[in-house]
Amino acid sequence: MLLTTLVNKDNKIKESYFSKINLIKAKDISNKEVLVEEKTYEAFLKLQAFLQSKNIIIGLSSAYRSLDEQENLYQDFVNKYGKDYVLKTVAPQGYSEHHTGLAIDFDCLLDDHFPIDNNEALKNISLYEEVHKYLADFGFILRYPKGKEEITKYSYEPWHIRYVGEFIAKIITKNGWTLEEYLTNFSGIIVVNKEKGMTSFDVVHEISHLFGLKRVGHTGTLDPLAEGVLIVAIGKATKVVELLTSYEKEYIASVKLGLQTDTLDITGKVIATAQIENNLNIEEALNHFKTTYLQEVPIYSAVKVNGKKLYQYARENKSIVLPKKEVTIKKITLLSKKKDTFTFKALVSKGCYIRSLINDICSYLNTLGTMTSLIRTKQGSITLEDAFTLDDIKMNNYKLLDVKDILNYPTITVNKDLAFKIKNGQVLDNLWNVTSKVIFEDEEGNLLGIYEVNDKKLKVWKNF
Ligand code: DAL
Ligand code: ZN
Repeated sequence: MLLTTLVNKDNKIKESYFSKINLIKAKDISNKEVLVEEKTYEAFLKLQAFLQSKNIIIGLSSAYRSLDEQENLYQDFVNKYGKDYVLKTVAPQGYSEHHTGLAIDFDCLLDDHFPIDNNEALKNISLYEEVHKYLADFGFILRYPKGKEEITKYSYEPWHIRYVGEFIAKIITKNGWTLEEYLTNFSGIIVVNKEKGMTSFDVVHEISHLFGLKRVGHTGTLDPLAEGVLIVAIGKATKVVELLTSYEKEYIASVKLGLQTDTLDITGKVIATAQIENNLNIEEALNHFKTTYLQEVPIYSAVKVNGKKLYQYARENKSIVLPKKEVTIKKITLLSKKKDTFTFKALVSKGCYIRSLINDICSYLNTLGTMTSLIRTKQGSITLEDAFTLDDIKMNNYKLLDVKDILNYPTITVNKDLAFKIKNGQVLDNLWNVTSKVIFEDEEGNLLGIYEVNDKKLKVWKNF
């Protein structure tokens, strides 16, 4: 379950949600039993204790509400205050964030009592606003802030807070966003320094959970054995990520001589061995491959032939003619050499498999060898220096790159009228005399679309 589950006037709680949360019992300010999501309550207790040290006493006035409880509350408010007021203050059954268990209405102790109603709370707003300063440190956001009524569709509620976890709460608070804005606006590219053992998908999964966002993708798969630069795109940036796959890549790879495996790397099964000769001219062999050649795709790969992935043929022991792809080795240099191992660095074109290259180099040398380690040091202009480990990222140490930092196209900022047209993908006059692709963003710096010149006009290539 993502901590960012959105329940608002346009998004009803899903039936399946209820089985995914763990509700625990707590006491509200009138000592009545209430239910709260476990982590939310844990965080609330910490916030409460912290505030107590600042002489602010807060209590819980409402947390999880069942569908029936929300319906009763709704009707109760309609009877007391009328429909117009309720429209701006109480969610209809099924559309309340309180159904998630992650929302809490808190109250502040005023001298000797808690406010009797919302109006009394609003009269003491400065006390509530003092609490707001610390919410993010404990993983909460103010869910219906002042000035964002058009987005949240509710009046300012200084008491309604929402647990999203510290990591996400800090991003939302820093940007002055609502949850709705975070979910649509948060976008960019993070260069991950993938560690050995993880699949590229594992990395994407972790990033998706950390940011609470579903739209996360990567370019250029790294096998579990491999480490280094893995470009991960989040939100709208996932739309342009395909462009980055065509970039050239640089690797440092190590080879063990004298054996061959089925996967062409050390994780595979040894299928043949050979004596290692003393006088192998590895440098000459590497130089020989500084060229464009047809490389056989390894059987242990996800490349499809007749609708089936190659590794499936291998697992089923079925024979298949392996396809060949043209690859270019732009640079290749030997870094070190011992009796039965060597390490090299290579700059290669899209689609080149380093383990296949190693296999080819070893064949050329009339021996056998397999890849023992692989580090991707570059993809396009992005290097390992730009990369962050998952641990770095979890500790908030990362850089979110913008699509425009990665793509080398001019960026043009446009006003609201043009922004509307671009969002809808309308054809534009080439007012700026651009000659290739161009990135459009709005006045707040949000990505709107990428256009290209077509027949003297600008036509949409990607819009967001
Ligand atoms: N007061 C908030 C909007 C709710 O009823 O969920
Ligand atoms: Zn509430």
